[in-house]
Amino acid sequence: MGQDSTNEGRTTPSPTWAAVRYDSLELRGRSLISIADLDAHQVTGVLDLAAALKGARGTGAAPLWNGTRSLAMIFEKPSLRTRVTFELGMRELGGIPIVLGPTEIGLGKRESVADVARNLGRWVSAIMARVYDHSALVEMRDNCAIPVINALSDVEHPCQTLADLLTIRERLGRLDGVRIAWVGDGNNVAHSLMLGAALTGASVIAACPTGYEPDAAIVEKARSLAHDPGAIRVTGNPYEAVADADVVYTDVWASMGQEAEASQRKAVFAPYQVNADLMRRAGARAIFLHCLPAHRGEEVTDEVLDGPQSAALDQAENRLHAQKAVLALLIGP
Ligand code: CP
Ligand code: NVA
Repeated sequence: MGQDSTNEGRTTPSPTWAAVRYDSLELRGRSLISIADLDAHQVTGVLDLAAALKGARGTGAAPLWNGTRSLAMIFEKPSLRTRVTFELGMRELGGIPIVLGPTEIGLGKRESVADVARNLGRWVSAIMARVYDHSALVEMRDNCAIPVINALSDVEHPCQTLADLLTIRERLGRLDGVRIAWVGDGNNVAHSLMLGAALTGASVIAACPTGYEPDAAIVEKARSLAHDPGAIRVTGNPYEAVADADVVYTDVWASMGQEAEASQRKAVFAPYQVNADLMRRAGARAIFLHCLPAHRGEEVTDEVLDGPQSAALDQAENRLHAQKAVLALLIGP
């Protein structure tokens, strides 16, 4: 990892692990439950390390660990991207991932959340958990001495936001002043995006149907983190949101756990579909983001998701690089 590496013909500086700014970022031993657990300097540090790791990937550089660190990966809900990128990322760092699926540990049923955390804290270096109830993450963090990483809860998806910010920075060259339009449900992904954007100088205008706006306390928190509180806004009008947007972002209308509401939500959200007409209002230079999985023909059309403005697969790829940076910084050398 100490030398420059070549990635598709480009020369990219690769980090030496010794050069990672552990002291300046002060993330060792910390948890990542909300993206707002990080300050602006720390978000930038994570993104910088992620970009360096991306450039150095596949160069045969030495891993950070030699089987001396491990990650428990708890899933109460299904996953493709999170499962693959955390497990692969852990292996690429030289660590040991242990996947615990929805039927395995009975979180809060077979055994209390606190007891699960207490036990895991004696064996592994960190816990990554995808849960229904956000408070389970807080309870885990409060009952063990190792980092707990939110891999999606009903409230936030901070690892997604780090990948999103990396993608925007790659595509647009900056985050400060970038105008993001969120179109659709004011959900977990929207919450973390608003907070992450506020920390990095980007603005978010979220267009959501009445009753499906982001949580008011999270909007207020994002406003308090932003240099300009007016950078974080909510509207009911998707056309207003995308006018002059640099980034148009949407997600499924019914999140995991809301399947019973799916057909009713389809009717409510129909005017919020991101299609070619809506993208035209944003302009040809705007990029389209989606955390995936997508429900094609609902929140987004094939034309947009597969079109030239879409960076959705960059986001998916960047989950790997962003999370490797998170794991390296939280677990430490
Ligand atoms: N974006 C995301 O978290 O994807 P998965 O649900 O497949 O992990
Ligand atoms: N809002 C979606 C995101 C999936 C990655 C959900 O919670 O299901």
